[in-house]
Amino acid sequence: MIVFGSVYVQLDGAARVHVLLNWLSSAGAFLATLFLIPRFAPRFERSGLCGRDLNKVSGKAGGTTNREQPLVPEALGLVAAAVYLCALCLFHLFRGPEATPFYNAALASVTFMILLGFADDVLDLRWRDKMILPCIATLPLLAAYAGSTTVIVPQPVRVWLSRVLGQLAIWVRADRVEALKRMPLVVPRLVDLGWFYKLYMLLLAVFCSNAINIHAGINGLEVGQALVIGCAVALHNAAHLRGWFPLPVADPERLRANHLFSLDLIAPFLATSAALFVHNWYPSAVFVGDTYCYFAGMCLAMAAILGHYSETLLLFFIPQVFNFLYSLPQLLGIIECPRHRLPRLNPKTRKLEGVPSHMNLLNLVLLIWGPMTERQLCIVLMALQAFFCALGYGLRMLVLHKVAWFS
Ligand code: UD1
Ligand code: MG
Repeated sequence: MIVFGSVYVQLDGAARVHVLLNWLSSAGAFLATLFLIPRFAPRFERSGLCGRDLNKVSGKAGGTTNREQPLVPEALGLVAAAVYLCALCLFHLFRGPEATPFYNAALASVTFMILLGFADDVLDLRWRDKMILPCIATLPLLAAYAGSTTVIVPQPVRVWLSRVLGQLAIWVRADRVEALKRMPLVVPRLVDLGWFYKLYMLLLAVFCSNAINIHAGINGLEVGQALVIGCAVALHNAAHLRGWFPLPVADPERLRANHLFSLDLIAPFLATSAALFVHNWYPSAVFVGDTYCYFAGMCLAMAAILGHYSETLLLFFIPQVFNFLYSLPQLLGIIECPRHRLPRLNPKTRKLEGVPSHMNLLNLVLLIWGPMTERQLCIVLMALQAFFCALGYGLRMLVLHKVAWFS
């Protein structure tokens, strides 16, 4: 049954303690990551896990004496990811057994993904493998998904769909035009997508991890974008738990449990990412590696899938969706795709300039707004991310409020 009217999900004492414990373990995870990264970085470098900081000349950004770019330890996302797993396990000790299957699925998927990301950093996988491996890592998550596979079709879409399907039926069965006109097709309000919904979730996880990985190449951007999206996800959970935008819901208790669980997963992610960001911010002391990109994509997808709001997550990925679509000709090999699609550094101005043949958002922003320093570009891209998250979410709330009252 759908309950209309304002629903305010009140957090009881136990839930407040739960959130507090989650924040405490996340604060511990932040400090541990912050402390451990500089300790592990030299070991990574000694093992050959390092890369050239391609947007620099000489040891300092923009210098001109030594044209060799500095070597930076790579794949330090592994430390953040390992601390995240520890924090999640420790926090689970305090949680009741009711969420155990979901915890296990989340742990299995994220661990699988970290392993694959690290394999990518060490083995430098081909694009084909990068697509296939996240599919495998998502399987435990899909197996544990026990939520609804039903979607609500809004009234305007229902009208439009029944018209399109009606025309299609007339086109296929031209001999029965009169009969089809007398019995117009009615699209139901609730449609169960069944296995297609699970397929959609699988594609979502593959998309999230790869989308973060290809929106990269300047200091701080990989973690920066994930942090902004993670904050949007956490705010979305808070909005439902605190009843900021009251909406009709069928089962407020379930909604509360879903968003609390999603917050459990995202808070330690934000904490470990923030600590990594401190070391990855311009000029980067460490690179995050593909390990972090896959880990971040999986965490965000996981929080949304197990929180039962995977459609909303896509709204927070608008810049990544654009970047992916704009990159498609190069990803598909229709246009030649170089190994790195970075901007060009002008050593005189010490600014990055857009390269038209490198078809990604990074270069497009530089081509539209003009040259910027690496630090400025990262700030602009993070601000754009925040703007589109807010815009997407605002539009969602507008549509949902309209659908709630007119469907
Ligand atoms: C993706 C992008 C590629 C981009 C690269 C940068 C696609 C199809 N691929 O490839 O265009 O150049 O990410 O991460 O869009 N690096 C820097 N500064 C940074 C971060 C990375 O110079 O702030 C360089 C370093 O040399 C580092 C390397 O990028 O070693 C890491 O590249 P990697 O993550 O392996 O590239 P891909 O993810 O395959
Ligand atoms: Mg990468």
